[in-house]
Amino acid sequence: MTWAAITGWGKCMPPATLTNADLSTFLDTTDEWIVSRTGMRERRISHVSATELATVAAARAIACAGLAPDDVDLIVYGSCSNEEAVPNSASGVQLALGATRAAAMDLNTACTSFLYGLSAATAMIRTGVVKNAVVIGVELISRYMDWSNRSVAVLFGDGAAAVVLQASSREEGVLGSALGCDADARATLRVRGIGCGYANQGVTLGDTIWDFDGPAIFKRAVNAMSAASTRVLAECGVAADAVDLVVPHQANLRIIESVARHAGIPMEKVMLTVERYGNMSAATVPVALVEALDAGRVRSGANILMPGFGGGLTWAALLVRWGGRVTPLGEATRELAPCPESALELVNGIRAIQDPHGRSAAGLAAPVFIGK
Ligand code: ACO
Repeated sequence: MTWAAITGWGKCMPPATLTNADLSTFLDTTDEWIVSRTGMRERRISHVSATELATVAAARAIACAGLAPDDVDLIVYGSCSNEEAVPNSASGVQLALGATRAAAMDLNTACTSFLYGLSAATAMIRTGVVKNAVVIGVELISRYMDWSNRSVAVLFGDGAAAVVLQASSREEGVLGSALGCDADARATLRVRGIGCGYANQGVTLGDTIWDFDGPAIFKRAVNAMSAASTRVLAECGVAADAVDLVVPHQANLRIIESVARHAGIPMEKVMLTVERYGNMSAATVPVALVEALDAGRVRSGANILMPGFGGGLTWAALLVRWGGRVTPLGEATRELAPCPESALELVNGIRAIQDPHGRSAAGLAAPVFIGK
């Protein structure tokens, strides 16, 4: 039987850090509110494109696996931050890496895109379609954030990370995936202004309006991640106390605490990045995984539970059995260009060209053909 071992990992965090104090220079919010309601203190704002973040993360993961770009058969770009609809973003990463043999696909299930991508690439390796795959989780939410809306603007950040999967005869990698979608609640999280449905509505890209029902998403997130975790553990025959590490989606510290409580897993076994990076959507889980490895929190043979949820409302929980190696085989030389501006300067630059509520908010109806 073929399995899909995780043999490489790498992240790319943009250096510019936006603090809660920075946010309170242009929003009616406070450090105390943000920390107490979300656990977040700062997040990153990228000065480069999502493809560049993804390419550096992927290059680091490929070097970590001891592979060359030429060895890669498949690139999965998990994200809701695409540069363009056509061509897809994965093809841009393929070109930048020089991974000329790789198939390249984008996968968007919002915050769960990395987890769905990891599950899909694992299935493609296990069925012999490809041998080596790179799965990326990347987001550049700062570019389409509605920076005038304090209910969402404080929650998100930019970032990227990637893993390499390789065919293996040992039982390792993703052992099980519970995937689903609570589509009846899809209207609780919608970014109005991007997509074909907004054609002829006079929308300037970047002038987005976020429909965001925080308390409703909160409850759905806890229920869906808890149920998915229970299901995948049962399907794999792994008891909660045999889980060595939880690497969850990080939308809110209180959500993570509730999910851990429901699963019966102590918080000491949970990898947290929410305080430093906020919610990076699809990038959140892989960045936390890479940081867990860097911190020596992943041992050979570890059982790692990865629950997540996102717009849709999609949800997922994957159980990963780590292989033998927890240290990189090599290092990539690829680096981001230096960032000449502070995060607040970057955000103020975006704000200066956005005018979501002044412009055409009243006319920017959600497309009727995709439901309520
Ligand atoms: N600063 C100060 N006050 C604020 C802020 C802010 N940044 N944002 C909202 N408030 C106010 C509200 O206006 C409200 O005021 P009111 O009582 O006068 O009306 C008050 O704070 C309470 O707001 P609630 O929404 O009830 O606060 P809650 O405790 O639910 O926390 C939060 C809000 C943090 C958004 C929480 O509901 C949450 O985390 N929800 C889930 C979010 C989430 O999962 N997002 C990710 C979605 S999926 C994905 O990852 C893409």
